[in-house]
Amino acid sequence: MKLTKKVMALALASCMAMSLAACGGSKPAETTAAATEAATTEAAAESTEAATEAETTAAEAAAATEGKDPAEIKVGISIYQFADNFMTLYREELQKYLVEECGLKAENISIMDGKNDQGEQMNQIRNFITQGYDVMIINLVQASSEPTVTEECNAAGIPVVYINREPEAEREAAWVSEGIKATYVGADARQSGTYQGEEIADLENKGDADGDGVVRYIMVQGDPENVDAQYRTEKSIEALTGAGVEVEELVKMRGDWDQTKGQEITANALSQHGAKIDVVFCNNDAMALGALQAIEAAGRKVNEDIYLVGVDALVEVVEHVMNGKMTGTVFNDYFGQAHTAADKALDFVNGKDVDNVYMVDYVKVTPENAAEILDLIK
Ligand code: GAL
Repeated sequence: MKLTKKVMALALASCMAMSLAACGGSKPAETTAAATEAATTEAAAESTEAATEAETTAAEAAAATEGKDPAEIKVGISIYQFADNFMTLYREELQKYLVEECGLKAENISIMDGKNDQGEQMNQIRNFITQGYDVMIINLVQASSEPTVTEECNAAGIPVVYINREPEAEREAAWVSEGIKATYVGADARQSGTYQGEEIADLENKGDADGDGVVRYIMVQGDPENVDAQYRTEKSIEALTGAGVEVEELVKMRGDWDQTKGQEITANALSQHGAKIDVVFCNNDAMALGALQAIEAAGRKVNEDIYLVGVDALVEVVEHVMNGKMTGTVFNDYFGQAHTAADKALDFVNGKDVDNVYMVDYVKVTPENAAEILDLIK
């Protein structure tokens, strides 16, 4: 009950209706229509040939109605690393949805920790193949290893749903042209970067905390192999300069999505550049929480003499946005992403058409809507 309310609210918040309980809701209506159409065709059939064709259509419709018994479907999941705050929320939601909404048995869902090691993850994928899993949901350690993973899964006849770390666009196109059963479910990282930049540009002083005419910032990056890190870094600043703001980058360092690294990078930058820093951009909230520790330790005050933004909308961060300890964040809709990933995995198993890319919208989180977002995620 509570989940359904959340799902509906989230779908509304991000204007995304597509992930709405596809495991429960949309199927019956679709299949009833297909069956009716087939029955009508059959009744109208004049020749034996036409009748046979209609029977086949009816049989197909009936098969599509039933699909494979969810209680028998085995899903192999590998997450790039369990020690990642955001991917932990994602993974828990994915498992919950597969069991509670899609009817899978918990023991038929295997979720492995890739431990940030591509070799380790490759072994897990090969084990899924050996054990005859029906479908995989893979959060790659390195997006660049997608061709190998796809090739091995495809050779074994196992479809793959990639999540969170987007493979190359040419590869996504190749899945279509080569008829490979693979898809990517994620969110367009450009949007999250733009939203971060806009949150700063929308401030009365456009982020120029010391009022000297230039917004000087530090950029705490995720893992730069990941397009999320690349685009958030690029687009946040583009949104700011696009709003007519003059900027200067003081520091750009990789923090690998990690809170401790976010704290260290920000502490060093503060001791090197001190009051010159107007804005701390973090590619995610975990690093922003680290940055906040460093900012407070340096005696600075967010929203007074420095600004701080992240991405993900972790509960703690949304609370900080409400109480003014952080300037803003961007909701990375793991409900929508997890549900779509699960739905597409089951569509593959049931022989339905699956597109090559599905994107779920991000949502800006500012003091105006933070309470509303908190209500949805808590
Ligand atoms: C991002 C997310 C980060 C981290 C990363 C892992 O989308 O914002 O917090 O989880 O994915 O690839």
